[in-house]
Amino acid sequence: MVEAFAVASGKGGTGKTTSTLALGMALADEYDVTVVDADTGMANLLFHTGLDDATVTLHDLLVEGTATNVSEATYDRFGMSVVPCGTSLAGFEAADPARLREVVAELAGDTDVLLLDSPAALSSKSAVLPVVLADRVVVVVEPTIPALSDGLKVQEYARSYGTETAGVLLNKVRDESADVAEQAGRHFGGPVLASVPESDVVRAARRSGMPLLAHAPDSEPAVRYRDAAARLDVRDGDGEAVAARFKSAVVPDTP
Ligand SMILES: Nc1ncnc2c1ncn2[C@@H]1O[C@H](COP(=O)(O)OP(=O)(O)OP(=O)(O)O)[C@@H](O)[C@H]1O
Ligand SMILES: [Mg+2]
Repeated sequence: MVEAFAVASGKGGTGKTTSTLALGMALADEYDVTVVDADTGMANLLFHTGLDDATVTLHDLLVEGTATNVSEATYDRFGMSVVPCGTSLAGFEAADPARLREVVAELAGDTDVLLLDSPAALSSKSAVLPVVLADRVVVVVEPTIPALSDGLKVQEYARSYGTETAGVLLNKVRDESADVAEQAGRHFGGPVLASVPESDVVRAARRSGMPLLAHAPDSEPAVRYRDAAARLDVRDGDGEAVAARFKSAVVPDTP
């Protein structure tokens, strides 16, 4: 079985990488989970997983004619398989984003849940591909009306490629009494998976190079992420069918 989720947002810095790893670790209690830093231009998942020094990354897999195997860029960390991406401009420039299709197709054959940490804006081929490839999208937004509006644009774009909304994650929430959650519940095609509070412990996790659920497993934000993961209701897609779909996905030029 396999289901692929893109963790996406309109704006940058909303907490996609934090959320990808928190959902991944929560789901890893039950499933075989693979997380991929599909933000190939502005990769930062490696800093959240202590993989700053990883010598082989997704960039190496995306070079045309590469001799690097997917397994060489896959690291066992925090109970998950983690495929980090490099941060150099040269690595990004040498990479062919369309090759992400073959990489995720290969990973799909060997995991239950594939989480694609996605770029923020829908501005280029590499930015939109994770959303196009995924079965469902988790939209991470801060609880403001402009941020919801951006998140809805991501949902609309995803839908145009047949990618449903798994749910919306409200992150960096300061005031739970606000009616933003109610509005989000009405406008998004999936449930509000969680309201995750703005918290120093989340920043501290990043600084320590560990996912939140490893750094502070009993903290309130960690509890909220586990609730969110439980609401995801993972589907058991046929691995081969999903891989075939990845391989043949049409790569849009720009949205
Ligand atoms: N709930 C939270 N409370 C406080 N800080 C948070 C919270 N969630 C994320 N952050 C912090 O906000 C910053 C951005 O988070 P993260 O890197 O997960 O976002 P992102 O959407 O992946 O960003 P980018 O668009 O740059 O890839 C990090 O410093 C992170 O520690
Ligand atoms: Mg990120």
